[in-house]
Amino acid sequence: MKALYPGSFDPITYGHLDILERAANLFDEVVITVAVNTRKESVFTAEERVQIIQDAIKDKAWGNKVKVDSFTGLLVEHAKKSNVQTLIRGVRQLSDFEYEFRMALMNRRLAPDIDTVFLMPREELTFVSATLVREVAYWGGDLSQFVPPHVETLIKEKFKK
Ligand code: PNS
Repeated sequence: MKALYPGSFDPITYGHLDILERAANLFDEVVITVAVNTRKESVFTAEERVQIIQDAIKDKAWGNKVKVDSFTGLLVEHAKKSNVQTLIRGVRQLSDFEYEFRMALMNRRLAPDIDTVFLMPREELTFVSATLVREVAYWGGDLSQFVPPHVETLIKEKFKK
C-alpha cells in the first residue's frame, strides 16, 4: 500500500525524517509531498524544499521506498490523482492534535475514501518544529541536533542575505 506524507517542510527536520522512516517501514511506498502556495510565507521555495528532502533521504536504507513531489490546491485532490488512500501526519504533542483532528475530519468529509494515519516521532524530537528551527537559524544558533548538516548550511545562508 502507498501513503502520502504532506507538509510544508520549510525545512525538513529530524522530526519529519523520523516520521518518514516510520511510514516507509509501514507502507510499500511513501510519497512525501511539499505543499506549494499555501498561504504561509516560506523561507525555501518549493523546488528548494523538494531538493533538500531528496538530499536528506538519498543515503537512507529506506530511501528507495520514498518519492518526493509537490502539490498545490487541496491535498485530497492530489491524493486522488496519485492513487493514494492514506495520508500520514506526525503528531508531537497534544497541542498538535486539535488542528490535526480538524484537518483529518475535513479531508475525510471532502474525500470519504481517504484516511489519515497519525505517527509519533521519537520522544526527544517531540519539541522540534520547522518554525523553531527557523527561529534558531535566524539568530545563528546551533541546529545540528534538529536538522541534517546540509539543511543547517542552507538555512543559515538564507538568513545571512
Ligand atoms: O507542515 P504543515 O504546514 O503543518 O502542513 C499542512 C498542510 C500543507 C498539509 C495543509 O495545510 C494542507 O494540506 N494544505 C493544502 C490545502 C488543504 O487541502 N487543506 C486541508 C483541508 S482544509
